[in-house]
Amino acid sequence: MADSVLLGLDVGGSSIKAALVDVQRGQTVTPLQVIPTPAPSTPDAVLEICARVDRQLGARGPVGLAFPSVIQHGIARTAANVDQSWLGFAGGERLGALITRPVEFINDADAAGIAEMAAGAGRGVEGVVLLLTFGTGIGSALFMDGELVPNTELGHMEFHGVDAEKIASARERTAERLDYEQWCARVNDYLARLHALFWPDLFIIGGSISEDFEQYRHLLHSPTEIRRAAYGAQSGVVGAAFAAVRAQRRTTAAAAGAAAAAGATGARGVP
Ligand code: BGC
Repeated sequence: MADSVLLGLDVGGSSIKAALVDVQRGQTVTPLQVIPTPAPSTPDAVLEICARVDRQLGARGPVGLAFPSVIQHGIARTAANVDQSWLGFAGGERLGALITRPVEFINDADAAGIAEMAAGAGRGVEGVVLLLTFGTGIGSALFMDGELVPNTELGHMEFHGVDAEKIASARERTAERLDYEQWCARVNDYLARLHALFWPDLFIIGGSISEDFEQYRHLLHSPTEIRRAAYGAQSGVVGAAFAAVRAQRRTTAAAAGAAAAAGATGARGVP
């Protein structure tokens, strides 16, 4: 397998998605695997599935693990749609110990945004881009001139007195049996709020529901241009694999740093 083929994992509140991704071509090279998220979605239960998928796909090199939580310095800081035992948990480190390879642990919407900005709907777009994923929750990824501002969590912005994702997520659409017209009215309202606060140059609509974009695009309105995520439901998986390249670079840089330090120590004659 080419060195440029890496595993991308995207853990969601409802399903875990995985595929091998050729990060040079920006394409998945295996069919997207979709496995129901275990209940309860504890770290052990979720990461055991991730390690199994890694084995089954014969993945090599670093792995990207996208997760629906604020991820700060490798630690999950929130747990809105997953088991509370993730709070404070170093998911990447734990999966890394299970598969004995480096793991990059990042927010799922940030991962989707990384894919879309590098090779999808946001490619080459300068200025402010806001990607929104509509699924079990609402995820957000904010970019300025292609640079990510991580963990924006705009699905938890207060909207009509509650978290926006309790009103306009794809899960709510299903739970309340909203048709596209009703759901898009809520999304338009939400986009209007985001427009007033961020004045983005582009909104990218992602998450599984973006696969059906053609059915409702005529119902979405905003002064900001709206595009569908080019990778659709696969953005998170592809972006996770892209992010894994960062883990690879970090490991290489750390090894080079250690070698240089050892060399410098040797030069001073310290044993
Ligand atoms: C979480 C976010 C996540 C989003 C989409 C929200 O509930 O707080 O971290 O990106 O769901 O999964």
